Amino acid sequence: MPRRRWRSFNGHRGGKLKVSVIGSGTMGRGIGQIFAQNGYDVNQVDVDQTALNMAEKSILESLNKLYSKHAISESPEDILKRINFSDSMESVRRSDLVIEAVFEKLEIKTDTLSKISDTVDKDVIIGTNTSSISINFLSKYVRNPERFLGIHFFNPVPIMKLVEVVSSELTTEFYLKKASDLLVNVGKDPVFVKDFPGFVSNRVLMPLIREAILVFEENVANARDIDKTFRLGMNHPMGPLELADFIGLDVCQDIMEVLYINYGDPRFKAPVTLRNFVNSGKLGRKSGEGFYKYEVKK
Ligand code: CAA
Repeated sequence: MPRRRWRSFNGHRGGKLKVSVIGSGTMGRGIGQIFAQNGYDVNQVDVDQTALNMAEKSILESLNKLYSKHAISESPEDILKRINFSDSMESVRRSDLVIEAVFEKLEIKTDTLSKISDTVDKDVIIGTNTSSISINFLSKYVRNPERFLGIHFFNPVPIMKLVEVVSSELTTEFYLKKASDLLVNVGKDPVFVKDFPGFVSNRVLMPLIREAILVFEENVANARDIDKTFRLGMNHPMGPLELADFIGLDVCQDIMEVLYINYGDPRFKAPVTLRNFVNSGKLGRKSGEGFYKYEVKK
């Protein structure tokens, strides 16, 4: 596959297009993968070398899956060569797009965004993959905030086509269009949403998950039957409890907290069972147990 170059973007940096992804957990590595898969040079950054090693392994696994099903034609090894794994923020300097996908903790996000914005040129698009923090609030940590926006991906990133593109009051049409063109280039189908807590996806999804947990708590049906109701009755690929386990129960709780604080509406309040699971370390798939038990990959 030819390397991507700026076309409609004036080519001011010229040469190959470079996308940097800060944070190499499940979402960050998926984001890096789709850009590499589509011909971009990728700088995959994390402060933790173990996370980088795991990211490399999991990207290769995912690419192998896609290759074996002919979903991609370029060899996984060649695609992987376009990804530079780095633990240094300096490496993002010559990027054309930087996407922050670090832990969903306010101080970590704000600190990372300040560092990105101090490192790159003033016209480089900076996106955040936050699922619940206000884009307007985060924009205070980015110099030239007209180029800053939410770029909210869905797990598993290589499979899910949706991206929520979230503008702050300061994001300009010019940068929204640039970002959305890039997302379309990597096979995504964006929706454009305003900066309201939970955007569209989590504002609607979290009350569903919450209600399913309450139904479970009240013993109306067991977890399998609650999930089966949605898989067979509504054609959802996963029922709400399976999905909560897949997203991470701690993540669901964090998102519900943000929604509850911001809207002050009890329909967003995290149920006791969810809190108990999270407090006892049952975080869903990643910890090996949530509403179901799982084998944890080493
Ligand atoms: N890389 C490459 N291929 C992958 C993959 C990955 N990371 N993950 C899954 N696949 C492929 C599988 O190989 C399989 O391919 P085939 O159908 O061609 O064989 C296909 O995707 C389906 O996978 P599985 O057979 O393993 O299992 P499945 O049919 O249950 O699908 C799933 C898995 C795609 C995750 C599906 O269950 C699903 O769509 N679930 C809902 C996911 C969802 O809602 N995600 C959004 C969560 S919310 C979020 O992310 C945002 C937030 O803010 C909380």
